Amino acid sequence: MKIANWAKKIKNNYLFQAVADKLEKFKEKNPEKKIINMGIGDVSLPIADKVVKACISASKEMGQISSFRGYSPDGGYDFLKQKIKNEYEKNLGVLINKNEIFISDGAKSDMSNILDIFSYENICLIPDPVYPVYLDTSIMHGMKIEFANATEENNFLPEPDFIFNKKIDIIYICSPNNPTGAAYTKDQIKKWVDYANSCGAIILYDAAYEAFIEDNNLCRSIFEIPESKTCAIEFKSFSKSAGFTGMRCGYSIVPRDLERENISLNYLWNRRHSTKFNGVAYIIQRAAEASLSDEGKFECQKSIKYYKKNAQIISNTLNKLSIKFFGGLNSPYIWLKCPNNMKSWEFFDYLLQNLNIVGIPGSGFGKNGENYFRLSCFASRENTQEACNRFMKIIA
Ligand code: MLT
Repeated sequence: MKIANWAKKIKNNYLFQAVADKLEKFKEKNPEKKIINMGIGDVSLPIADKVVKACISASKEMGQISSFRGYSPDGGYDFLKQKIKNEYEKNLGVLINKNEIFISDGAKSDMSNILDIFSYENICLIPDPVYPVYLDTSIMHGMKIEFANATEENNFLPEPDFIFNKKIDIIYICSPNNPTGAAYTKDQIKKWVDYANSCGAIILYDAAYEAFIEDNNLCRSIFEIPESKTCAIEFKSFSKSAGFTGMRCGYSIVPRDLERENISLNYLWNRRHSTKFNGVAYIIQRAAEASLSDEGKFECQKSIKYYKKNAQIISNTLNKLSIKFFGGLNSPYIWLKCPNNMKSWEFFDYLLQNLNIVGIPGSGFGKNGENYFRLSCFASRENTQEACNRFMKIIA
């Protein structure tokens, strides 16, 4: 009996697990300290009232013989797909067919599971730094990996010109980017789409943070570029847009025109979904639907504004301290340069020990993240303010 090959190739711990372990150890030794967590991007505001009401009403339906439901359709209920379709049409002028939408338990699982439909012989292009799930799951699927350097020099937004002459099959794009907060314009995404169409590559477009975009030049969906229907799959999540980190709901969009080797990827993804997945709970899908109602959207927007205000408070503090940083405008993350040229994990320890603040070491997102650090703007206002007061006292 042999275990999977990837076991020997992967880092010991998933980044957020490594941070959580360090935090637990610190708490054990220092139970009296009040720790402020600005690490993992977990929301702090409760879900919207409209969404809560939808959960209650759907739960009641499940308790009555006349409205009880068993298995959800594997790809999701029609009512939620219709709402999503309407959103794309109304907000972006993008036409999506309902059978191009697949409801899931979140973008993290989708971004990993999608690799099931591709051969392990493919070469994946992964931005560095980026959300660690792309790298870890590509390793787990035995893919070959190339990196796209995202540095201050290219505003953390690599463009395809640097990979000409290299063979690339799968391109990961995260925009707005986790962790840097950098976001591509439509013109920049068009370049990636043209590149992918020219060589037959597939773009896996992670738009989990789209709700934080303010600037209209920025790309909200890769399908705003019409030519993307022959080269892209999009992933969205209710986690950050509607506070669903604990509820679990997201979706992927796989265009019907997307084919490779004369096989429809929409068919293959559907085939994979129906074999390995039994769908998202009815109650959760009704909750997601409610978050897309007018009232639901209004309430969710209020939460996003709240987190953005947090970002502003942190940005003001870092400016006062003359600490260089990026992000926070079209994204809920602040990406800062560690003061005094500290290494990322060194700064993590420094913050935890001296200020009792938790963030995420930049190097955990890739080698280009070394000497950087990510702060999440999802904490409560009170904690964000308190963290900023602590920054002023100790780092200054
Ligand atoms: C993050 O902190 O990067 C995210 O919350 C992690 C996730 O979405 O899985």
